[in-house]
Amino acid sequence: MNDSFYITTPIYYVNDKPHIGHAYTTILADVLARYHRLLDEPTWFLTGTDEHGQKVERAAKKNNMSCQEQADRTVVNFQELWQQLEITHDDFIRTTEPRHQQVVQNILQDLWDRGEIYKDSYAGWYSVSEERFFTEKELIDGKDPISGRPVEWIEEDNYFFKMSNYQEWLIQYIEDNPEFIQPDFRRNETLGFLRQPLNDLCISRPKSRLPWGIELPFAEDYVCYVWFDALVNYISAIGYSVDDKQFQQWWPATYQLIGKDILTTHTVYWPTMLKAMGAPLPKTVFAHGWWLVDEEKMSKTTGNVVDPKDFSDRYGTDAFRYHLIAEMTLGNDANFSELSFAERYNNDLADGVGNMLSRVAKMIEKNCDGKIPEPGPLAAEDEELKAAVMAAVPEMEAAIHGMRLDRGLQAVMEAVRACNRYFEKTTPWTLVKSGETERLHTVLYTAAEALRIVAGLLYPVLPGKMTDLRLTLGLGDEPPKVVDLKAWGTLPTGATLGKSKPLFPKVDIAKLKEDIEAAKAADESADDEPDNVVDLIEIDDFFKVQLKTARVLQAEPVKGKDRILLLQIEVGKERRQIVAGVAQHYQPEELVGRTIVVVANLKPAKIAGLKSQGMLLAAKSGKNLNLVTVDGDVPSGVSIG
Ligand code: MSP
Repeated sequence: MNDSFYITTPIYYVNDKPHIGHAYTTILADVLARYHRLLDEPTWFLTGTDEHGQKVERAAKKNNMSCQEQADRTVVNFQELWQQLEITHDDFIRTTEPRHQQVVQNILQDLWDRGEIYKDSYAGWYSVSEERFFTEKELIDGKDPISGRPVEWIEEDNYFFKMSNYQEWLIQYIEDNPEFIQPDFRRNETLGFLRQPLNDLCISRPKSRLPWGIELPFAEDYVCYVWFDALVNYISAIGYSVDDKQFQQWWPATYQLIGKDILTTHTVYWPTMLKAMGAPLPKTVFAHGWWLVDEEKMSKTTGNVVDPKDFSDRYGTDAFRYHLIAEMTLGNDANFSELSFAERYNNDLADGVGNMLSRVAKMIEKNCDGKIPEPGPLAAEDEELKAAVMAAVPEMEAAIHGMRLDRGLQAVMEAVRACNRYFEKTTPWTLVKSGETERLHTVLYTAAEALRIVAGLLYPVLPGKMTDLRLTLGLGDEPPKVVDLKAWGTLPTGATLGKSKPLFPKVDIAKLKEDIEAAKAADESADDEPDNVVDLIEIDDFFKVQLKTARVLQAEPVKGKDRILLLQIEVGKERRQIVAGVAQHYQPEELVGRTIVVVANLKPAKIAGLKSQGMLLAAKSGKNLNLVTVDGDVPSGVSIG
């Protein structure tokens, strides 16, 4: 065993772009990795992508590209998002990389040579969406019990891993090592699963059915089952069977973070695989809950998928990271709503940390020549603030070790509120008036020092903004160190304050509520009219409406209105301006150059104070909206009918 900290996320399928669930696990791993680095522990953080298997193959077919191309294009979305979200992974593994494929093949060959894998014929109900066989008994209404999708009957020769041999051992291991599966109720879930007889695991797919995978080294007509391939990433990335020194340095992993839906693969398949290989098990597999959106399951069909890029573009990466970590109690499901996001943002960040920094910086600017003042002896009030802030340090540490980051953040926010109260109590502005300079300096130093500690505690969650805060306090832009946290009084006096700008501009909640209400009303009115009930009209009425093609010349956002875009369009020789409610669905640059369809003879109207000369056509279903466009290359101004 080693005392290093190795943390992993699941590797994400490259069949689609990342959503909030992917962003969450990766941010959580990043926050934990940053805390452990701050605590001076050797830390390694791995994430990556799962690029083989049927899901990716299907996506490639749908998108008319090769599987490799599908993977190469989609992986960029993940990598760019991680950059935007300030993720500090030490490695990013793709399962199509030779370094991974080699290790999977080494493992397969070794298990085959040692009789842990055997060939057998197999018949069963196969679910494409879950990529696995089910027994007759497991089906619900003849369908896949997990996805509810249809299954197909398949008979074929396949290769099996003798997983059943390890059932008794695994039950014992889980009972003897309660930290292996966390939280506790997930451990009970796995133990419940293990009360049923455990089957051997089919680890091959005939190439005739699925050619996209790693070839079995002992059977060239087969590829490896995607999960048997994917789980190996956690050790292939650190050199299992190739670089023993590196492997020993990091393995066993400290935390393997997963979502609750992939518990069985990580707490049954994975430990039995490791046991058969003769490798130790990870210390903890930690399953978090799911993000619901407005209390509903997120799904592409309802169109309520939260796009992490969009949120961090609009509110800032740090605020997005903060909300996710503060809102979810690890293990349970959590609800994501824009309103509660904005409310927490205003309370904790804008009115809390941001407000405190701007108060302290302004007073120091004005009264201390912009330099951190020299404090005198601490009075009772100062000691009280010091104690309140320093109490948050061990609380945060306990929260990290106990995987209760939400609690840790609550403790820090308590400290921030104590800072704001301290200002109200000590009223430094009256000390200015009464000329009590030494006392004023002590109060301002104490407040600034409290903020330095707060910034250190929050840094792993809000790395960008807490660096800004530290710069404002005259510190450098390097990350805080553990000694910065544990010792009160290390803020250098005499240091010149950096430029202070509002860290977290306040969100206008009333306006946000209005926007949300308006969007809801628009959705409801769209849903009011069932598709098959229509008022019939005369053909002449239809001909009254002039539909024309138009080319989008310019598209720009409208300040303060996040649902509309202002478009300049060309309709034949004429130029017009229209206001379109598409900002939640299209980026301005996606629209420029496109040929759309507009109602050309609408009376001009004023929308949000702007002239709008026409209306564009779009198809709306649920929360999705797609522009109506024309097939082929058609000039603008052409009549449609
Ligand atoms: N490729 C597999 C994992 C292989 S690990 C060896 C996979 N990929 S995934 O892209 O479908 O999902 C990755 C993770 O996202 C899973 O941990 C899953 O639980 C998580 N989430 C998917 N939807 C989610 C939410 N709505 N909320 C939180 N996490 C969710 O599974």
